[in-house]
Amino acid sequence: MALERTFSIIKPDATRRNLTGKVNALLEAGGLRIVAQKRILLSRAQAETFYGVHKERPFFNDLVKFMTSGPIVAQVLEGENAVARNREIMGATNPANAAEGTIRKTFAESIEANSAHGSDSAENAAIEIAFFFSGLEIVG
Ligand code: CMP
Repeated sequence: MALERTFSIIKPDATRRNLTGKVNALLEAGGLRIVAQKRILLSRAQAETFYGVHKERPFFNDLVKFMTSGPIVAQVLEGENAVARNREIMGATNPANAAEGTIRKTFAESIEANSAHGSDSAENAAIEIAFFFSGLEIVG
């Protein structure tokens, strides 16, 4: 498998607890390289657009409120099989179901405040990376 890129977010529950470095350590130990990273405060419109695929879900409004409640760290991760690898490192969406040693099992507070987002496919990774970063900001 060739080098691949995926998109990742360290969510407001994790930045609030000053866990950016600890989350990044798990990403790097898992074989991924952080090739772009920025800490930003999403607007409501930006969060609604990013999570547009979920707009009919019952948790959508709460999700947008949570994702705009504090800074996030948006990232591009690079590595072998990066989309799948990042999802392994993050663990299941619901921390109650996440494997030991994963980001969500270790740090998440709830299914909503679950510390990390990662793209679910290479196609969505490309869309999500382009939403947050220009090519100039990604240095492999
Ligand atoms: P994420 O990978 O960022 O994609 C959508 C987010 O919605 C998900 O992580 C969760 O944090 C959040 N969410 C809140 N409630 C639910 C739920 N019941 N099922 C799935 N995702 C949920």
